[in-house]
Order: sequence, then C-alpha cells, then structure tokens
Amino acid sequence: MASASIPASPSPWTTPHPSPPPTYSPPLSFPPPEDLVPTVTRLHDIYSSVDLPHQTSRWHALVARFKALYDRPMTFVARSPGRVNLIGEHIDYSWFPVLPMATVHDVLVAVCVLPQNDPVADDRIILSNVSSSKYPTRVFNTRDFQDPFFEISTTGTDVDWSAYFLAGLKGALMFSKLCAAETSPLPTMRILVDGDIPPCAGLSASSAFVCSSLLAVLAATTSSTIEKSFLVNSSVISERVLGVNSGGMDQAASVFGVRDHALLVDFRPLVSAKPVRVLDTVPPLCFVLANSLVVTANRAETGPDTYNVRVVETVLAAEILARKYNVGRLEIRDGFGGTLRGFYDRVCEQEGWTMGDRESEERAVREVVRRVQETFDRDQYSLDEVAEKLGQKTEDMVRKYMTRFPIRAKYLNLRDRSIHVIEESFRVKCFSSLLASSTVHLRTLSGSESRPYFDALGALMNASQASCANFFECSCPEVDELTQIARRYGAAGSRMTGTGWGGCTVSLVRADKVADVINGLKKEYYAVRYPGLSASQLEEAVFAIRPGNGTALAKIEDV
Ligand code: GLA
Repeated sequence: MASASIPASPSPWTTPHPSPPPTYSPPLSFPPPEDLVPTVTRLHDIYSSVDLPHQTSRWHALVARFKALYDRPMTFVARSPGRVNLIGEHIDYSWFPVLPMATVHDVLVAVCVLPQNDPVADDRIILSNVSSSKYPTRVFNTRDFQDPFFEISTTGTDVDWSAYFLAGLKGALMFSKLCAAETSPLPTMRILVDGDIPPCAGLSASSAFVCSSLLAVLAATTSSTIEKSFLVNSSVISERVLGVNSGGMDQAASVFGVRDHALLVDFRPLVSAKPVRVLDTVPPLCFVLANSLVVTANRAETGPDTYNVRVVETVLAAEILARKYNVGRLEIRDGFGGTLRGFYDRVCEQEGWTMGDRESEERAVREVVRRVQETFDRDQYSLDEVAEKLGQKTEDMVRKYMTRFPIRAKYLNLRDRSIHVIEESFRVKCFSSLLASSTVHLRTLSGSESRPYFDALGALMNASQASCANFFECSCPEVDELTQIARRYGAAGSRMTGTGWGGCTVSLVRADKVADVINGLKKEYYAVRYPGLSASQLEEAVFAIRPGNGTALAKIEDV
C-alpha cells in the first residue's frame, strides 16, 4: 500500500510568519513520483559517471568514518546539492521566475537511528562533521543535543555550524506536526555531516545543509514519502530563524535539481521547477565557475546592510507603485508586503495585455519601467520620504517592514532596484526560451553557425551583470574583474551568481574555449591577487561545472 505523502503545504509565500499556516487537509490523490523526494539505492542515481570515482571514495570514507565514530552503521543519508544561478538575480523575492541549476557539490547528512532497545539509546542527538579536516580554519565541533526544544543561538555574528542542522530539525518538527503526518517522537540519532560545497562562496551551502537536515529528521521520524515542494517551502521558512529573509530560489534549485538541466523556477501559484536541458549545442555549451574568494559573509551578519535592505526596497517600491497607479491591493508575500511581480501582472491585466510573446513582454517591461521612473525621480529617498509616498507614518512603516529582519539603512533606492528586477525578469524569459530552443535548432549547426546563439545568451548574462553592479549594487570590484577577464579570454557571457557582494561568477563558455578561460582567470586574477594558492586550491577556485541532480534520500547498497 502506498504510504501517505507529506504535502506541499504550508507555503511560505502567502502565509504570515510566524503565525502558523492553515490546517492541512489530506490530498485527494497521491502525487506523481516525480513530485516526491526520491529514495535512491545506487550512487549512480545521484552522480554522473564523470563524478562517480571521486564520489565513490568520498562515500566509502564517510561510511568508514561513521562506523568508527559511532560503532553503528548509518541507516540513510539525506543529500542536497548547492546551486549556481544562471540568470535572474535578486528577483525571486519579488516572485519573478529565476533560472538556477543544482551543483554536483552537496551536503550529506548521514544518520543512524537507534532503536529504543539499543543498549546505547539515550534520546540524544549527536552531530559531528567530517569537514573539520577539510576547512581547518573553521570550527566544526561535535555537538550533543538532549533537548529538542533547544534554542538556536544566532546572536551576534557568530552562527555555529550546527545552527543550520537545528533550523532543519525545528522545521521538520513544526511542519510534520502541522501536517498531521504520522511522526514518532525524536529517536536517538547519531549524525555525521560531510559537505563539499565551498563555504561562504555564494553557492548556497547553508540552504543545502538546512534541506538535508530537514529531510534527515523527517526520514527518521515518519514513514511518509515527502513532496519536493513541501521540502522547499518548509526549508525556506526554517532558514528564517537564522535571520535570513531568502526568496526560495536556493532551496528550489537544490531540491528540484535535474542532471544536465537548468531549472526554470517559478513561485506562483505554487513553487515549481521546469527542467531546461543545457547541453545540446555544437560545440557543447559549458559553464565555468570562478570564486572571487571574497567571502560572502553569512547573511545573519551582513543582511542588515545588504540583502535584507534589498528585500525591503523592492517590497516598498511595489506597495508605492500599486498605490500610485491604483491597481488594487497586491497579494502579500510571506506576511510582509506586495511584490513587483504583483504590480507588473496587475498593470498587464489593467491594460488588457495578453502576454506570452516577446514583443508583448517587452512592451510591458518598458511601460512598467516608465512608471517606476515617473514615481521615483531620484535614486535616494530618506525613510520619511518613503513613508510619505506610502501614505504611512515613518514609525509605522519601520515597524511593519524593517523590524522582522534587521535593517540598517537611512536611505533607500527604490528606483534602481525596481528597474533591475523588472528588466532582469525579462532577461530570464529570453534566456530560458533561448536555452529551450537549443535542442530544436542547434544540434545540426556547425561550430561557427552556433556563434550567434552563444553570443545572444552571453549578452543576456553580461546585461544581467551590469544591472547587478549598477542598479542593484550587489556586485563588488573583484567579481566585476573576474567577469571582465572571463570575457576577454573567450567567455560568451559572464556574471555574478547568488547573493553577491563577493562569492562566485558563472561564465558561459563554448567547450573549445573552456581551457583558455580557466587559464586566463588563473593568470590574471588568482596569480595576481592570490599568488600563494596551491594547485589544489586553484582547482577548487575555478572549474567547469555541470548541472547535477537534486535532493535525495540515499540508502546506498553499493558502498
Ligand atoms: C540568496 C537568496 C536567494 C536569492 C539570491 C539572489 O541566495 O537566498 O533567495 O535571493 O540570494 O538571487
């Protein structure tokens, strides 16, 4: 008999936080298998043949380390990858679709659930991390939890590594109860974590860790199968206890990842991801990742000056635009405020524009940008001026929009942030339809004939980078420099990826140019700025990437 599945609700997108989501009613039918987090039994189900040799030895080491540490075999591994965003930066929290891909790099949470009659069953959760040897400058102390209702310490800037596990654990307890799934109380668990996503590089290691942890606890406490969208939604909410007001792209990319495919992730009406194949061109299309080695410090630390401010700027812009153009109340995202997508869609409805083709979309983008410029005639407004445009008292505005997540800002830039969001959303549409068309047109083209295709994709990435740097101000000089070098050495396009203010770039490169681009970056960026890097550190800093598979529960039989 099929077991019940943990459903897609609750959704972080429309439910107020922290008040609980509505009561769940069981689904009338079982979701199709592709909507469920898969349980896999072979490493080949997770990794491609290129990655198998390395991953097999990594998993062997994990199994051995687990046994040595806990004197028990592991029961299962919850595995979630990181993500690289190809295009669509900082627009997920405005509810516009984005185009990320999952990485092969991942976070493994290996678990042994001890039965009550095991002599060492003691209701404790012991959590260790193999990464202490890999990243010696970071602290990965073993943690021991006896009380599941412990507080997660996120005070100050120092978030302990285990906070991400605890965020997932708390989320799993909260949501499985709300969804009335048949869960048992927390059992005795021994856990070993192994992550190979470079930390603080903007590749979403923290979301992958929260997703894996949440899945691990659900798998330890319920026999239900788990819907991917449930895992995405609950991971987004869970991560918020860490002070991060994220949009959902990272968790969606991690959970929905499909090997060799980018994902067109949409957030309305429900979170979903449409795989778009990326490898069918001649010569093949490749992506090169380059880590600026400028640490994207954890957002609990820098969010008040950067990420959280951008979220508030885009929400306030949407609310003010909706008020000025009388488009009616916008649907509220996350108990917070309206979105720019809400405003955009309302304008299209009001104008009677049926969307779908490039020209209509372009016209709508132009019109919405015009209204943005008409509403915000300069780039900086004081809080009092913004409140006046909103028709609220400053203190009310601050209480409503600037307290849930800490903000340190005296001035807001509503104009440039909105222009970036609206235009970037159009670039996502163009980029994803170009990618999707590659399967149809390009297999038959010779190398030189496919050049305009690469150039068109690259131009969209370059425009995205310029907009991130100039309008959204989320790049930094080192990242700008990496993108320029990559283009000089033959990349068709290059841009920052992820949160920004440091972290990585992603470049679109024809297969026959990959070596040139990587060597160029090594010579002009790493040799100049980081001359002391060892060969293996360099290999980890700049490399070609392929889209990998998404989250899975692994009960591997071949290691
Ligand atoms: C972070 C957030 C995402 C997204 C990106 C920027 O990774 O977690 O939700 O907003 O930044 O595109």
